[in-house]
Amino acid sequence: MNKLNIGLVGYGFMARAHSNAYLSVNQFFDLKYRPVLKGVAARDAAKVEKFAHKWGYESHYTDWRHLIADPEIDIIDIASPNDTHSEIAVTAAQAGKTILCEKPLARNLKEAQAMVDAVKKAGVRTMVWYNYRRIPAVTLAKKMIESGKLGRIYHYRAKFLQDWTISPDVPQGGTGWRLDVNAAGSGVTGDLLAHCIDTAIWLNGGIDSVSAMTETFVKERKHNLTGKMEKVGIDDASAFLARFHNGSLATFEATRYARGHKALYTLEINGEHGSIAWDLHDLHRLQWFDHKDEGTLRGWRSIHVTDGDHPYMANWWVPGLAIGYEHSFIHAIADFLNSIDGKEPAQPTFEEAMKTEHVVDAVLRSAAAGRWERVG
Ligand SMILES: NC(=O)c1ccc[n+]([C@@H]2O[C@H](COP(=O)([O-])OP(=O)(O)OC[C@H]3O[C@@H](n4cnc5c(N)ncnc54)[C@H](O)[C@@H]3O)[C@@H](O)[C@H]2O)c1
Repeated sequence: MNKLNIGLVGYGFMARAHSNAYLSVNQFFDLKYRPVLKGVAARDAAKVEKFAHKWGYESHYTDWRHLIADPEIDIIDIASPNDTHSEIAVTAAQAGKTILCEKPLARNLKEAQAMVDAVKKAGVRTMVWYNYRRIPAVTLAKKMIESGKLGRIYHYRAKFLQDWTISPDVPQGGTGWRLDVNAAGSGVTGDLLAHCIDTAIWLNGGIDSVSAMTETFVKERKHNLTGKMEKVGIDDASAFLARFHNGSLATFEATRYARGHKALYTLEINGEHGSIAWDLHDLHRLQWFDHKDEGTLRGWRSIHVTDGDHPYMANWWVPGLAIGYEHSFIHAIADFLNSIDGKEPAQPTFEEAMKTEHVVDAVLRSAAAGRWERVG
């Protein structure tokens, strides 16, 4: 089996999700390639060493440049905050590395475009970890739409609701990088809505125009790095209307102020012949209403997406047994490794992920200007 040496940047939430995927993927999928946990880089020497030992990385560094300089590293995996993505990706591309990068691609369009230009110039393979595409129920929704089961699509509705920043005592910066506009680029628009937008583009095609509103409910927060109260520059909540190329209308909403909700990503699609709905809190189920059913028996079905003929599920347990969130990352890396010898790249590549960046940019422009904006 061909080994691919991974150089991971970061040891946080996503670094754990990716490391788990690398360790599991060959146990459950028959692949020609095997990821090897070669090196990990993050700034705190003691913490990165502990992480390397825990997960089995052969080496650890406090500077990601050492990972990129290591000729044995094949793949640079960027699992660090958004402000680091562009510089790491451009440097890795120049060194000819394959690059896997967490979403969003970058803090803004300019940084994201620099990444796309660099990987195009270098001719290196890329993928962005928009993992929700690889939840079997969501992949099943894609297959149903492609097969024409829903007919013409009229409506797309997506929400991503959390409640963890309601307290004004939650600090920004450092480990609270998501609340610091300099590190994150934007708030829930680039963080949560980026997921909803990527899934929406994948399922329902491109978005033409948007009309958005954003709000920052807590205007000042203590900054972890300066110790001072500082202005909050991110959007705490973001909602927008959208028109898709296919003529369908959409609503999107994300917030970290929906008391009671921790990570409620929901989507619903209404078509001419039927509707589908999905909910991250019940991720192995796909709700399906088929208008072609016999009239008196019509109703919403709840498909338990765990059978051997459901997407990805033949690789797991016996029918009826569910898998979870972490498996979406295992599926992503399985698809990526499978794509290496194929004609089609695993999606989304950096170039494909730019579509989401353009929508995020249009949402932020629209909210600032208070008018409809075209997606660039
Ligand atoms: N696909 C998903 O569902 C998903 C979920 C969460 C986060 N993310 C994305 O993953 C990325 C990381 O988020 P997270 O939740 O893992 O964050 P985190 O705060 O848990 O971890 C970030 C890690 O990056 C390290 N880091 C920070 N600056 C660095 C630098 N200059 N060099 C090297 N390491 C550095 C930190 O020490 C930490 O280990 C973000 O881009 C985020 O948007 C994606």
